[in-house]
Amino acid sequence: MFFLAPRIMFSIPVVSQSFQSVNQVLSSPSNRITHRAAVAPMMDYTDRFFRYLMRLISRHSLLYTEMIHCAALINGDRDRLLEYDPAEHPLALQLGGNNPDELAACTRMAADWGYDQVNLNLGCPSERVQSGRFGACLMAEPELVADCLRAMIGVGDLPVTVKTRIGIDHQDSYPELTHFVATLAEAGCRTFIIHARKAWLQGLSPRENREIPPLRYDVVYRLKQDFPHLEIWINGGIRSLEEAARHLRHVDGFMIGRAAYEDPWLFSQVDSQFYHWRGVPMTRFAVLADYLVFLERERRRGTPLHLMTKHLITLFYGQPGAREWRRFLSDISQRQDIGPERILKAAENLRRVDTC
Ligand SMILES: Cc1cc2nc3c(=O)[nH]c(=O)nc-3n(C[C@H](O)[C@H](O)[C@H](O)COP(=O)(O)O)c2cc1C
Repeated sequence: MFFLAPRIMFSIPVVSQSFQSVNQVLSSPSNRITHRAAVAPMMDYTDRFFRYLMRLISRHSLLYTEMIHCAALINGDRDRLLEYDPAEHPLALQLGGNNPDELAACTRMAADWGYDQVNLNLGCPSERVQSGRFGACLMAEPELVADCLRAMIGVGDLPVTVKTRIGIDHQDSYPELTHFVATLAEAGCRTFIIHARKAWLQGLSPRENREIPPLRYDVVYRLKQDFPHLEIWINGGIRSLEEAARHLRHVDGFMIGRAAYEDPWLFSQVDSQFYHWRGVPMTRFAVLADYLVFLERERRRGTPLHLMTKHLITLFYGQPGAREWRRFLSDISQRQDIGPERILKAAENLRRVDTC
């Protein structure tokens, strides 16, 4: 019989001794951890399975859902869209939309479901998103965004944040950006996550819009100088925790997207480096063992195995045997009858090198 004792037992709230002392050190007046590190929202990636994996790797990093459009939440399968595991806290729900009433209704849902934050997407440049008049194109409509934020903030205590760019198209001067930020701040928004590049709404694909417009970290630093009372987070092109630490000399937090997906283990040092966490470090193998407990629970509920195993592909990124590991996961991707024992066995030959 398969038996795995999870190294970490999660509950809400997580109240191990070490967590309590960290909370005391880091808590703000409202008794919340002041966040510094986040895994970026990424469509098709940051589903609840990836988030669970990331939570095993870092207990404190803020996690984000994929963007969910308000209409989908209001008219669609809300239970499926909002489902998450309690272990995922702290967790932000990212919304797309431009209708204040709908956004307020969805913020209420987020509060009812126990999310820790709601984030409004003002950075996605895709054509589909533009045709729905939400995402990055809303940077051209600060007053509408302010109305949306007022409605969302009016719902209650749930923190409402935005994720945006430094500009769009030819609206890319610093005064235009400060006007945008000031208008949103006036509406009550206190936290801005800034992807440090502009977006071209015509002519570039979303992918190109993550690579071609140059990164302008200096613009984000300047925003923090000019709006010291706001919480300014930086995002875009951060590949290492050393880089992240350098950004933290200028801003309040950092968010990492692609590098976290390509090498989730990047976040294994986040708790000790940025949250003063002093517990026993996890190993990749221990994270895998814990994830398999979750996987088995989900598999018994009928969750397709590949939805969970696809996120394990990069867990051993850069380690000897990583290629065989990837091949094994790809081979079993269409099978539902594979249990954790088999996956664990395939990882066994990686164990001897799993020292970090
Ligand atoms: C596949 C993919 C999907 C994304 N989906 C979202 C999304 O749903 N919401 C959002 O605000 N940003 C989304 N982004 C943008 C990221 O959150 C992030 O801003 C961007 O990748 C830049 O950060 P990075 O250089 O650390 O990856 C996505 C990025 C990628 C690569």
